[in-house]
Amino acid sequence: MALLEVVNLTKRFGGLVANDDVTMSVNEGEIVGLIGPNGAGKTTLFNSIAGVYNPEKGKILFRGEDITQYNPEQACQAGIARTFQIVRVFKGMTVLDNVMVGAYLRSKGEADARNRAIEVLKFTGLYPKRDYLASALTIADKKRLEMARALATRPTLLMLDEAMAGLNPTECQAAVECIRAISREGITILMVEHVMEVIMPISDRIVVLNSGKKIAEGKPEEVSADPEVIKAYLGGKYVARS
Ligand SMILES: Nc1ncnc2c1ncn2[C@@H]1O[C@H](COP(=O)(O)OP(=O)(O)OP(=O)(O)O)[C@@H](O)[C@H]1O
Ligand SMILES: [Mg+2]
Repeated sequence: MALLEVVNLTKRFGGLVANDDVTMSVNEGEIVGLIGPNGAGKTTLFNSIAGVYNPEKGKILFRGEDITQYNPEQACQAGIARTFQIVRVFKGMTVLDNVMVGAYLRSKGEADARNRAIEVLKFTGLYPKRDYLASALTIADKKRLEMARALATRPTLLMLDEAMAGLNPTECQAAVECIRAISREGITILMVEHVMEVIMPISDRIVVLNSGKKIAEGKPEEVSADPEVIKAYLGGKYVARS
């Protein structure tokens, strides 16, 4: 049984079909990359999985449980955590307090939440900046803080929406290492990324959306050689190294 199963999912915004009959799955322990052009429906799919939207058609199963009509808190409680394409840190709070917000989900009290937050801050390398205001962080650190806040909820599935956008190559490399470390901890990862040099090598499988529809799914080398994917999205911008 897959950890996450999206079955015939359709999400409309008025007349616009943002996700059109999408079926895809993520297995336990995998890193799955979700790619496609701007407006393909990637973030919408994340939002449906995370309970922000309740799609009108189709099903979302998580550990076999029907979570289609869950709200964000229920989805998080079930073990799904996410980061945002446009960062949403709590700007007026410290780094530590931001991560404690996540930690409270499964903590017995303040001391417990603080200990969990400190553990995650050390894991993600943000511990030296624990007393900074979140607003004072660089974009790379804000993205990392979102990852830390999500991790503090002890997720089974972590969804990352463009964790590398706006990062320089050094920061990108550091983020890749952090994601690999999270994966080694046994957390399943579903990630959206436009940087092909990042998403292709790190992913076990890739799912491609275009105009709301899934147009391909498979191993990175299969997907990057797929004529429909090249036509819709990749063009000449990525050639898999064999
Ligand atoms: N809340 C909303 N209300 C109306 N339309 C929306 C809403 N959210 C997304 N859309 C539309 O749905 C389509 C899919 O958007 P979505 O943000 O899911 O794409 P995406 O694949 O994440 O794109 P990008 O790579 O630019 O982030 C787009 O046409 C977008 O304009
Ligand atoms: Mg998006």
